[in-house]
Amino acid sequence: MDTLRIGKTPIEVSVMGLGTGPWGNTSTWGFGDGYAEEDVKKAFKVSLDAGITLFDTAEVYGDGVAETILGEVLREYGAGRKLIVATKFMPGEGRQSRKDILEALVSSLRRLGLNTIDLYQIHYPLPPSPVDTWAEALKEAIDRGLTGAVGVSNFDEVEMRRMHEALTRHGVPLASNQVRYNVLFREIETNGVMAACRELGVTVIAWGPMAQGLLTGKYGPENPPRLARRERYKDILGRVPGVVAEMERVGRAHGGKTPAQVALNWVMAKGAIPIPGAKTAAQALDNTGALGWKMTCQEVARLDEASTGSA
Ligand SMILES: NC(=O)c1ccc[n+]([C@@H]2O[C@H](COP(=O)([O-])OP(=O)(O)OC[C@H]3O[C@@H](n4cnc5c(N)ncnc54)[C@H](OP(=O)(O)O)[C@@H]3O)[C@@H](O)[C@H]2O)c1
Repeated sequence: MDTLRIGKTPIEVSVMGLGTGPWGNTSTWGFGDGYAEEDVKKAFKVSLDAGITLFDTAEVYGDGVAETILGEVLREYGAGRKLIVATKFMPGEGRQSRKDILEALVSSLRRLGLNTIDLYQIHYPLPPSPVDTWAEALKEAIDRGLTGAVGVSNFDEVEMRRMHEALTRHGVPLASNQVRYNVLFREIETNGVMAACRELGVTVIAWGPMAQGLLTGKYGPENPPRLARRERYKDILGRVPGVVAEMERVGRAHGGKTPAQVALNWVMAKGAIPIPGAKTAAQALDNTGALGWKMTCQEVARLDEASTGSA
């Protein structure tokens, strides 16, 4: 398994991770209806066996359920292995102080059953976005050994530069910015985030690398996803079949790779780390087929063109 370092930290991760967003979440993903705890645990095991070492979660996923399940599988299967655990703090009204962040981190650690994690991220730059306070709290979290590195998520270029500066004043590198990025949603290529990440040495971690399932080939205008995704994506479902058709062509040229595998390979070709969510062992196994091959520059360009052309 190829690895890379997160930002300017010494932390090495597999070039693809595993996201735990669907673990315990009912409103978007329907946890308990078609898949359950045993399934996501098997998804973890399959990913681990394939060499994946980066596991992304958050305090809000399933209201703590995802962290709890991740803690269980880490104990069950991860003993003796260097696995990288990333979780997130969700700021909110009345939840912005240094103390709030540190208490939230301690609660996450308790659910995970760990003394320390590798990457602690501010989930959203929610107003009033007290960047200096966040930076102080994150520095303290590192000093207390609660996390190895710190990152942000869903920060635009300006917010990310402010956070980078604030952390730099404390001598702490901003390791990563976790943002939506996939063949259909390429806004970070034009809104300055990707360029700033490159300039500052901040790793892009791509959430929704399969556009929350749209790029797996099973959804389209005639077959929309259920629950929250139905409303969320109703305006772009018409674009999906054309893009997936081009992804299938790329997949055929590489021995029959699936659209999901092509979607994830494209993210890696762009220099970002995809963290696909998986509900089942079968999905996790399919996703590991994104590893060990590289699409050509021409194929990347063709997918870019298919995505732009479909706008
Ligand atoms: N920082 C943030 O704000 C933020 C936001 C969202 C997510 N995240 C993180 O990023 C991770 C990835 O994003 P995501 O989970 O939202 O979206 P995603 O990885 O693009 O899509 C995951 C969904 O696609 C479907 N799927 C996965 N593998 C498949 C396969 N091989 N074949 C067919 N369908 C497959 C499953 O849903 P169905 O089977 O129901 O279609 C699965 O839940 C999350 O798990 C979470 O860790 C972060």
